[in-house]
Amino acid sequence: MLLPFYLLSMVSFLPVTNARIPFYGKTIQNQSQVLDIYDFVVVGGGTSGLVVANRLSENPNTTVLVIEAGVLHNKLSFDSDEHEDFITIPLITSANIPVLGNGPRGTKYDWNLTGVPQPELGGRSVQTPAGKVVGGGSVLNSMVYNRGSRAEYDRWEELGNPDWNFDGLLPYFKKAENFTPPSEALLAEWDIEYNPAFHGNQGFVQSSFPPFVWPSSRNFLRAMLELGIRVLKDSMGGDSAGAYWFALSLNPRDESRSTAREYYIPERLNLHLLTQAQVTKLDIKAHQSKHSVTGVEYVMNGSFIRQHVNARNEVILAAGALHTPQILQLSGIGDATHLSSIGVEPLVDLPGVGANYQDHLLFVIVQSVNIAVSTSNISNATWNAEQRALYDTERQGPYTTTSGNFLASLPLNTVAINGSSKAIQSAAAAQLPTQYLPTDIDGSVIDGYLRQHKLLVRGLSSNVSAHVEFILSDSVILPVLLQPFSRGTIRINSTSPFDPPQIDPRYFSNPLDLSTLIMSVEFGRALQATHALQELNAQELFPGASVQSTSELGDSIRDGVQSTHHHVGTASMLPKHLGGVVDPKLRVYDIHGLRVVDASVIPMLPACHMQSTVYAVAEKVGFSFSRL
Ligand SMILES: Cc1cc2nc3c(=O)[nH]c(=O)nc-3n(C[C@H](O)[C@H](O)[C@H](O)COP(=O)(O)OP(=O)(O)OC[C@H]3O[C@@H](n4cnc5c(N)ncnc54)[C@H](O)[C@@H]3O)c2cc1C
Ligand SMILES: *[C@@H]1O[C@H](CO)[C@@H](O)[C@H](O)[C@H]1NC(C)=O
Ligand SMILES: *[C@@H]1O[C@H](CO)[C@@H](O)[C@H](O)[C@H]1NC(C)=O
Ligand SMILES: *[C@@H]1O[C@H](CO)[C@@H](O)[C@H](O)[C@H]1NC(C)=O
Ligand SMILES: *[C@@H]1O[C@H](CO)[C@@H](O)[C@H](O)[C@H]1NC(C)=O
Ligand SMILES: *[C@@H]1O[C@H](CO)[C@@H](O)[C@H](O)[C@H]1NC(C)=O
Ligand SMILES: *[C@@H]1O[C@H](CO)[C@@H](O)[C@H](O)[C@H]1NC(C)=O
Ligand SMILES: *[C@@H]1O[C@H](CO)[C@@H](O)[C@H](O)[C@H]1NC(C)=O
Ligand SMILES: *[C@@H]1O[C@H](CO)[C@@H](O)[C@H](O)[C@H]1NC(C)=O
Ligand SMILES: *[C@@H]1O[C@H](CO)[C@@H](O)[C@H](O)[C@H]1NC(C)=O
Repeated sequence: MLLPFYLLSMVSFLPVTNARIPFYGKTIQNQSQVLDIYDFVVVGGGTSGLVVANRLSENPNTTVLVIEAGVLHNKLSFDSDEHEDFITIPLITSANIPVLGNGPRGTKYDWNLTGVPQPELGGRSVQTPAGKVVGGGSVLNSMVYNRGSRAEYDRWEELGNPDWNFDGLLPYFKKAENFTPPSEALLAEWDIEYNPAFHGNQGFVQSSFPPFVWPSSRNFLRAMLELGIRVLKDSMGGDSAGAYWFALSLNPRDESRSTAREYYIPERLNLHLLTQAQVTKLDIKAHQSKHSVTGVEYVMNGSFIRQHVNARNEVILAAGALHTPQILQLSGIGDATHLSSIGVEPLVDLPGVGANYQDHLLFVIVQSVNIAVSTSNISNATWNAEQRALYDTERQGPYTTTSGNFLASLPLNTVAINGSSKAIQSAAAAQLPTQYLPTDIDGSVIDGYLRQHKLLVRGLSSNVSAHVEFILSDSVILPVLLQPFSRGTIRINSTSPFDPPQIDPRYFSNPLDLSTLIMSVEFGRALQATHALQELNAQELFPGASVQSTSELGDSIRDGVQSTHHHVGTASMLPKHLGGVVDPKLRVYDIHGLRVVDASVIPMLPACHMQSTVYAVAEKVGFSFSRL
């Protein structure tokens, strides 16, 4: 009989099969401390991985190893003397303001990937940052903490995933969240309300409203009202199509970033975290007629020696939507034709691996505004130093927030100020969906897309589901395409795990996406023309007044568009005959002992930023585990 793990940890004289140091009950950063076998091995200590590892290790008898390629640093919070400002301080980490640097992107905490050249962007490649650090994307992201509308989650269920709808997710959105409402003064000033029924206050992720609001937010709010846009009281209850003041993943105790790191409890004796270790492959053995995952192969940073660790119950992939398909494909799980073509022996033919890739694209409209206090004042070194001192001493002022506080998430009908949505709707209904897909994908993936296309077309006439988000910040209006029709791929092109996966987002491969963004720039101009923004003398600097025709706007957009880093869909939760990779319990089809719990499983993007949804998905699957 196997000894319970917690007992094993106390009896260090027991002979251990691998003659290694049996247990420390602490973070392990040294490969020599890894045991031979754990109940669960979680690949990736990022946003979703830390949630699932936490929930699994709630049972002290369940042993869990998390393997993370990046480092665990003790500098994530002000609890440490050595915190790194570019991670912890909202304005620096997320502002993306050149004078302050560019947040954690491009640092040692970033995989620093780049997509392949995009034909529809004139051959341009798009930067694709991804967290390589304990906490993953939650350490790099821009801290926007919001949710989509009910219809966008309900369609996951319509695609064949029972209970994956808004009501089924709401308890887990709440479970992840530790919400602090804004002060009474701010509530009154902004005429907002919050509904406690939509929020959790016991979760690990802090969500709150920063105490400082950029003054232009008031103008943006009034501009929205002038254009007849609804202003939402609380956007978190499944109706988020409208304009609203958004919360951040922000710890109100010290106005610093809150990350998935909060889920990591080093005191748990049954939880091991191995850092700087890259998983290179799954260990798979033939098991009667079905393959079975027995563990993983990994390599410590700076070494070339392949190590192995076994999983008694399951391996759980949480490497993110860019790396999970890479690991699956390296292991022989994917489109058999593709795998054979690059010299990987196909073990499980799942053509959906790396397919159905979706992302939110954003464009930047630049304007000048004349206002006493704005993000552009940061270039005044004296003012900047004063504001930083205010943050350091009182946790007040602009450093408590990101570069914007207000956004509008709008249905197509609302964005189309002159009724141009009809044109997009009829073009969408009339188009042959398959025309715009990659030519070398399997019929099952095509069938899955046909279902999604129907839902997308239906959604275009909805007045309660948003198609474009406008992030509003002094001198920029950022239209974000929320429900793309284009689909891309993530594929390995070599058998080396150290070569990056080939990210081909196929932006604008479906022309409806460009049409929607063109319309959005026109909406941005209508916004600039409102009295509320003309009070600030808003003048467009880019693309600029000379850019007017549809084709000129299209060219500007092709030149300027960027990723919002909301990659999903590359191991979609869908029925297998629709190109699915995981079932509604997130188990990979046709193999034993393997699950995916990260953003890869999301079959269609909701109209919001992704982190809260990733947390909720992981909490939902984590809950079902804890009842095994
Ligand atoms: C720059 C940026 C800005 C963003 N802004 C926002 C925002 O403002 N609001 C919002 O809601 N969302 C935002 N997002 C998106 C959000 O953060 C992600 O959707 C979410 O973090 C994804 O979680 P995940 O668990 O799927 O993957 P991740 O959190 O990326 O976790 C994957 C982990 O696996 C590790 N890993 C990968 N491969 C291996 C391997 N082979 N071996 C071992 N470990 C491996 C990685 O190092 C990483 O730690 C942003 C993302 C980025 C990158
Ligand atoms: C790992 O631990 C072993 C055994 O305790 C030790 O010899 C080795 O130096 C350690 N390696 C690192 C990189 O800390
Ligand atoms: C853990 O195992 C012990 C010994 O088998 C058992 O008594 C205990 O109930 C278990 N605890 C949980 C939470 O399952
Ligand atoms: C990230 O990639 C860019 C270009 O792809 C490169 O210029 C930069 O040096 C890289 N950063 C790091 C830290 O490797
Ligand atoms: C990983 O290993 C390389 C090469 O040994 C080293 O330069 C680098 O600092 C290591 N990375 C980290 C995060 O320690
Ligand atoms: C901030 O910028 C505005 C507009 O550019 C300017 O009028 C104002 O004087 C600036 N304030 C400070 C403190 O620099
Ligand atoms: C810069 O900021 C300081 C301090 O707020 C202010 O006194 C000064 O007028 C500002 N300079 C400019 C050029 O606006
Ligand atoms: C959406 O349209 C329906 C039907 O026309 C209407 O009843 C509802 O009030 C509208 N909702 C919003 C938010 O506009
Ligand atoms: C994979 O693609 C990258 C970038 O497109 C290229 O540099 C590399 O040579 C390719 N590798 C192989 C083995 O084809
Ligand atoms: C909308 O129509 C009005 C009146 O015809 C016109 O002045 C305006 O420029 C149009 N706006 C857009 C964005 O097409």
